[in-house]
Amino acid sequence: MSKTLHIKTYGCQMNVYDSQRIADVLAPHGYVLADHPEAADLVVLNTCHIREKAAEKVYSELGRLRRVGERRQRAGGAPLQVAVAGCVAQAEGDAMAKRAPHVDVVVGPQSYHRLPELLARRAGRRRPVVDTDFPVESKFDHLPEAATPPGATAFLTVQEGCDKFCSFCVVPYTRGAEESRPVADVLAEACGLVDRGVRELTLLGQNVNAYHGEAPDGREWGLARLIRELAEIPGLERIRYTTSHPADMDDALIRAHGEVPALMPFLHLPVQAGSDRVLAAMNRRGGADDYRRLVDRLRAARPDLALSSDFIVGFPGEREDDFAATLALVDDVVFAQAFSFKYSPRPGTPATIMRQHVAEAVKADRLERLQARLDDQQRAFNRHLTGHTVDVLFERPGRKPGQMVGRSPYLQAVHVDGGPELAGRCLPVVITAALEHSLAGKLADDAKLGAVA
Ligand code: 5AD
Ligand code: SF4
Repeated sequence: MSKTLHIKTYGCQMNVYDSQRIADVLAPHGYVLADHPEAADLVVLNTCHIREKAAEKVYSELGRLRRVGERRQRAGGAPLQVAVAGCVAQAEGDAMAKRAPHVDVVVGPQSYHRLPELLARRAGRRRPVVDTDFPVESKFDHLPEAATPPGATAFLTVQEGCDKFCSFCVVPYTRGAEESRPVADVLAEACGLVDRGVRELTLLGQNVNAYHGEAPDGREWGLARLIRELAEIPGLERIRYTTSHPADMDDALIRAHGEVPALMPFLHLPVQAGSDRVLAAMNRRGGADDYRRLVDRLRAARPDLALSSDFIVGFPGEREDDFAATLALVDDVVFAQAFSFKYSPRPGTPATIMRQHVAEAVKADRLERLQARLDDQQRAFNRHLTGHTVDVLFERPGRKPGQMVGRSPYLQAVHVDGGPELAGRCLPVVITAALEHSLAGKLADDAKLGAVA
């Protein structure tokens, strides 16, 4: 009998990938996807623990779901099952089972392949079933084939976990130690996706450029070697990877940016801050000038490379002159886009017990000033493309009828008049306008639809 499943995803792209795989795991057990939790037999919250706000959202959503379930049962309907997956599940484990006893399953990011079994174990028990072990066997060896056809773009996890231990970050605790998938597994999954119409792959890892997978030639391959191999797959037009640590950008990877045309000229390379003092306290393994030099080398290899970054303001001990150094770095590097956050103390991380926490109002003020500068840079970057022709990989219909949306090489959304036959095609587009969060364009005259496979 078919049952309905709703998955709500928080946080990073790896969670988006994991949610897809969770759907794949449950599909053979009769679960089909539902758009709304109200209509579902099972709701999975795939959660994020990176900042406090993200984690707290989960508990308020759990409260809401409990009320949905109660209403449904009062009306004589079937019970609503709830599973919490992802990094909050991993971090909270039994504490979540106590605080939200109506939850059925709490499962960490390395164990979701066991979801059907965990749901079955819940039957007849009063307490939630908790599985937050880091299993010896890899979940990837247990995941079934993708159940739903992918679109033109797909994520592919190649590496998971992190051994860097930045002092603010929970990831090494929630996702565990760094681990790379074997090259053969990655290639098989990539070929399968391309066979099903995927034209762009984003390789995922918490520290993706530390990738070191066991290869069929008996050696370990780094990310650059893996990318070169993937670029040989016929039909795969674009490759991206995220998220990288500056300390792991090796020569081979920098060279690949200049030599592999499928590798897109857009790189998310978090720097976090521009003050050496703060970077040292963050345990980031490198100063601001190391980052500047790295960007110079990348741009020497690929002159049209656009950069994106993450920033944290108000890290413990950050003074006004430290923050000024962050603004100076932003001015020097010039980013195409960036994410910036107020420092949020996370349980169990070293920064939480550092002295000189920064007042909330100061954090808010610095965030505003940083974001204003980054927004200016993003607008300028978007505007400078007006009148230029860029390749757009079309993904889906736009909100307006007769419109399609795709992505530029720099990951900007581009709206173009056109029909669904454009989906999955990568065509030259003349950019006609830079809007607030996207670009508008029209197909270039030489975009010969028939000629594109
Ligand atoms: N507080 C604020 N931002 C954080 N990040 C990670 N941990 C924290 C924290 N404790 C940010 C970093 C990272 C991004 C994914 O989230 O900038 O690169
Ligand atoms: Fe967290 Fe640092 Fe690892 Fe990134 S590199 S996941 S910020 S510990």
